[in-house]
Amino acid sequence: MNDSHLTGYSVIRRNRTADDFFMEMMRKLLWPVHRWIWLDPARRARKLLRFAETEADGGRDLVRAAELTPDPVLRRLFLVHARDELRHAELFRRRGASLLRALSKPSQSGFRADWLAPGERGLDDLRIEELEDGALLAFLHLSEKSAANHFALYRYVMQRDPSTGAVFEEVLRDEAYHMNYTLSQLVRVSPQRHRLLLWRARLSRLWKGYLRLAIGLAGVISGVILMILFFTLLPPFAYFAKRAARQEPAGWLPVSPERSVSLDRQY
Ligand SMILES: [Fe+2]
Ligand SMILES: [Fe+2]
Repeated sequence: MNDSHLTGYSVIRRNRTADDFFMEMMRKLLWPVHRWIWLDPARRARKLLRFAETEADGGRDLVRAAELTPDPVLRRLFLVHARDELRHAELFRRRGASLLRALSKPSQSGFRADWLAPGERGLDDLRIEELEDGALLAFLHLSEKSAANHFALYRYVMQRDPSTGAVFEEVLRDEAYHMNYTLSQLVRVSPQRHRLLLWRARLSRLWKGYLRLAIGLAGVISGVILMILFFTLLPPFAYFAKRAARQEPAGWLPVSPERSVSLDRQY
């Protein structure tokens, strides 16, 4: 596989960090899985509509961040960024809707594999009011970097659907710009602490990733446990119920004379 297909934004990046190598390794390992995930047009449509929601959400968060920052340069950049995210939402919504319209029959499965193939996570439910500009920029930088990595991979696996591939291509260009401006602004507003802020943001994303994985895993484990209970505990009950039913005489039975009294009392 040609790496340039998977790292469409690499021309914009200067220094490759351990994160970049890790992400690239993950992409190489996971691209067949992603090809399978995106193969089904119904799932593709649902995922694009989901991405549209997340992008719009991210755009609203950035407008709020622009309102809160005391820095005029950041305010302008956040507003431009917000406008980009809203445009991404529109691009994904339009493409998802046109894929849905082209389906010959309604989609059966609701499986979207979001935990394996997420889009842009935006600010991931961060409380913007509680963050200073440096911490927000560090978080945004990592989020945009991860989105750029994912969209580069999705664009690559979209060879059979060039229209959706073109949407990812367009979005990817903006994400690469977002990734770069957030880093340069982080270095500007926190020249001494930018590395520390990046590490903090990394740990916070790692913790959120762990929580997402743990919730997903808990769902799978509880499903397996219920299945085991269904096949181990229920069969004996079913067996005894059937045996008891077999011992019951079939049809109507004569009532003994002592019980067959007049119906003028309750018992
Ligand atoms: Fe975006
Ligand atoms: Fe973005």
